[in-house]
Amino acid sequence: MVYDVYRWKVPYRIPIIDEPIVEAVLRVMRSGALFRGEDTRAFEQEMADYVGVKYGASTNSGTSALALMWEGLAYPAGSEVIMQANGYIAGASTAMQAGLRPVFVEPDEETHTLDVERVREAITPRTRAIYAIHMYGHPTDMDPLVALCERHGIDLIEVLAHATGARYRGRKVGSFGRAAMTTFGSKMVTVNGLGGMLLTNEEALAAGAISLRKNVPDQGVDYYHMERLPHNYQLSEPLAAMGRINLRRLDEHIARRRQHAARLTAMLRAADLPIHLPVEREWATHAYLHYVIRAPHRDELRAFLADRRVEARLHYECPVYLIGPIRRALGHDRGDFPISDRICSEVISLPVGPWLSDDQVDYLGEQVVDFFKTRVRPAAKPEAARR
Ligand SMILES: Cc1ncc(COP(=O)(O)O)c(C=O)c1O
Repeated sequence: MVYDVYRWKVPYRIPIIDEPIVEAVLRVMRSGALFRGEDTRAFEQEMADYVGVKYGASTNSGTSALALMWEGLAYPAGSEVIMQANGYIAGASTAMQAGLRPVFVEPDEETHTLDVERVREAITPRTRAIYAIHMYGHPTDMDPLVALCERHGIDLIEVLAHATGARYRGRKVGSFGRAAMTTFGSKMVTVNGLGGMLLTNEEALAAGAISLRKNVPDQGVDYYHMERLPHNYQLSEPLAAMGRINLRRLDEHIARRRQHAARLTAMLRAADLPIHLPVEREWATHAYLHYVIRAPHRDELRAFLADRRVEARLHYECPVYLIGPIRRALGHDRGDFPISDRICSEVISLPVGPWLSDDQVDYLGEQVVDFFKTRVRPAAKPEAARR
């Protein structure tokens, strides 16, 4: 089925297909170098420079970047990785496939990122890493987390999937930990397809990922002398070329997302609705990949918005600890993480982004207000609004 983005009056996203993008793709296709070429190498260096680390190793998805990362970190089997219960499947799934054990914690209820106190309580002698997703584009509180990792001699992993270009106390996220990953599938930097990258200051970690992401031996080595079983996780060259162009646009896109977010927040706050609005801590520069509110009657609101041709999405509707194979392997059950359960039942992501005009954002805000004024009785003050 074709994703008919144009049926929406306010789409959640639209592909970026303009002249510079088309030209770049044609240039690469005509060159015949469709992978392991100049654009891949340049994209890696440009991403690394942008984030503020030395090395980038591109992959065909964020998930494969994580898989290569765990392989390179080579923690002993059964090592624990602390992560938030309201996060995304890929951190837990790749860690488990690498023989590691995810240990879930409840997040900070305001920012939806890791709560450092809860992380501290979850540390055991088997903990090897803390996995921090800068959720929705809001940075995790890095200073106490970095201090905690140093005190316990454990690694900090940063996930920029939602937050490439977000800043913590003025510094871009991605360079605080031992390794970071990002993804390019309709994210802050899109490649109009799937892609990801491992970012790190450690040469060996990047080189290991670059070596293992392809089924051919490294230069100067033959198949007979290959040392480890490889994968095929390479980013295609036309996608890298598109990524380079969109990376150059990233700061401008973030500025536009932030304008939209400020506009929506002002409008929704003025309407005094029973919803929880996104927060931005004083040390944070939110990148707003997702503008996430928490609302009662979330599913009805989403259906109402769809009727008005506004596309809303859910990040995420199921807490990661309850996802079938994760729940079964770790012995979890519904209710183990009630804050995450509640968050996942209330979150709804509203569209913001450079493809939208101010008028579209105003229209979207009006529909949210209209839902609560016309469809929800005033008595229905929910938990989300009382906080
Ligand atoms: C927080 C987070 N981690 C990991 C990933 C995995 O990236 P990919 O879809 O490129 O495999 C995503 C993608 O949506 C994500 O949002």
